[in-house]
Amino acid sequence: CGIVGYVGARNATEVLIEGLRMLEYRGYDSAGISVFNNNTVKTVKSLGKIDRLEQKLEEIGPLPATCGIGHTRWATHGMPSDINAHPHATEKVSVVHNGIIENYLEIRKELMDKGISFVSQTDTESLARLIDSLYDGDPVAAIRGALARVKGAYALGMVFYDKKDVIYAVRKDNPLIVAQSEDAGEFFIASDIPAVLAYTKRYYVLEEGEIAVLAKGGVTFIAPDGSLLQKPLLTAAFTLEQAQKGGYEHFMLKEIYEQPKALQNTITPRVKNGLPNFSSDNVPDELLKNAKAIHITACGTAMHAGLVGKSVMERLARVPVNVDIASEFRYRDPLVNEGDLVIIISQSGETADTLAALRLAKNKGAKTLAIVNVVGSSIAREADCVVYTHAGVEIAVASTKAYMVQLSVLHLLAVRLGLLKGMIDEAEGKRLVSLLGAVGETLEQMLSDTSLVQAAAQHIVQAPDIFFIGRGRDYYLSMEGALKLKEISYIHCEAYAAGELKHGTLSLITDGVPVIALAVEPKLFEKTISNIKEVKARGAYVVAVLSKGVMLDDQTADTSIHLPECDEFTQPFLTAAILQLLAYYTAKGKGLDIDKPRNLAKSVTVE
Ligand code: G6P
Repeated sequence: CGIVGYVGARNATEVLIEGLRMLEYRGYDSAGISVFNNNTVKTVKSLGKIDRLEQKLEEIGPLPATCGIGHTRWATHGMPSDINAHPHATEKVSVVHNGIIENYLEIRKELMDKGISFVSQTDTESLARLIDSLYDGDPVAAIRGALARVKGAYALGMVFYDKKDVIYAVRKDNPLIVAQSEDAGEFFIASDIPAVLAYTKRYYVLEEGEIAVLAKGGVTFIAPDGSLLQKPLLTAAFTLEQAQKGGYEHFMLKEIYEQPKALQNTITPRVKNGLPNFSSDNVPDELLKNAKAIHITACGTAMHAGLVGKSVMERLARVPVNVDIASEFRYRDPLVNEGDLVIIISQSGETADTLAALRLAKNKGAKTLAIVNVVGSSIAREADCVVYTHAGVEIAVASTKAYMVQLSVLHLLAVRLGLLKGMIDEAEGKRLVSLLGAVGETLEQMLSDTSLVQAAAQHIVQAPDIFFIGRGRDYYLSMEGALKLKEISYIHCEAYAAGELKHGTLSLITDGVPVIALAVEPKLFEKTISNIKEVKARGAYVVAVLSKGVMLDDQTADTSIHLPECDEFTQPFLTAAILQLLAYYTAKGKGLDIDKPRNLAKSVTVE
């Protein structure tokens, strides 16, 4: 979900709507605002995207205000509806909330027993009514009292009706920043920097338990012990332009085309004398060298990057690497011991399950290394060391460039690990690093002509089901290709280890069912070709992804897409981009809302 709040001289309603638009990628099933207007607080909310809210506001007529809070929702407790949308307003207070209040039913019952009535099914309403019930003129006391009672995660923005033009904010396990204009005349709260970039790049990070009080005259930070805090004012590293589409039809396409630059930005600072070097990230060699076992844990696309990382690390360094979905890792009492290395991968650095997995690994005495894109995010701050990917801001819900640069860091780490473990020599290390250094350029050339991928997309756009097959690394890439395609095209996709197909799923291959077959990995090529023939013999429509120069007859593949000339080591980067484009053009062919696929959100800060 996305939170925004504003106090200053501008029209608050407009600032809130613009901020919400920039945050829509975090959730978009309903939205709403509360603003101080004519000595009262008006709350307007609506099911659907921000456009619907804006329409509703137009129907109501002008709502002059200079202070308010807004929210765009990704439903957890309670279906998307006008009533369940935020803000949740009571008689005294209006609240916007990201996260989950775990004991909300208990609080709700307690309040109902006291005669307080509820209108929605949300956990947030319980919190709003609790704050309301504790409020007697001192907002900070009411907030503290309420938070002492709740279990769960939250970022909160609140306005108390009798505290005109003042916003209160607090957070725990959910991101929230406080921003201020250059002249310190306007103040904002936001769950992410893009919401405020049109107005300012200057912001404070709110730490857990700190309360921020924003008014026209300034912002005050109150520590959990009640003392006033001085906090450092930071400057965002990206611009509004970077957070806008810049002529591309969709953020996803823009971000696919930003990948060569993102690779260069991520790889270059980690190469010294032709070899990988993480000293500027403060990653000690001992951390890698002494790792008894390596675990990688992450969610979604980041987990898929981890799988490719596993294959390259095991190959180059001959150390076992376990990869886990963070939400599985944390609940299965994983065999993680002191001296193990746990690598945490996350674009946002805020994914709730990934953050919890990191904390668990630390509790078990493991060393933790985070690969994170968002600077200063929770995972980046809590891990023992962090390697930042330099993808820049990623807006499309379906991750592309963040995945690509995660792959690059994992490849660099694998080479470093191989050297430290004595499994590869320096000459080989240098060869591999120079290949990585050149991959951005090869990718750029490949992106200059995507006509074959676009043509392949036309063949699969009407399919109800699509299968992806591959072996080894190609299998891991298939998993990401299938995820990308299903996320944005709504076509059911499944990725299968090519050799496993005959143990069940082959029964689903009938006339015309598309199979995207990855036969890139050289040493597995012949084996995968056999599997392609198996599906072809059952009538599949085969789209083969192949290395340059490999030709298949029409008895084997219906369409072939070739990687450009490249070494085996850098093939995954190019294969990944082909699969991203295939997903993009398929979804485009269906006319779907590519950047904001239904039911999904960019950053999932709930478990
Ligand atoms: C959500 C996003 C995915 C992302 C996953 C993990 O599901 O829609 O694109 O891969 O979260 O996010 P993270 O920020 O931890 O990489």
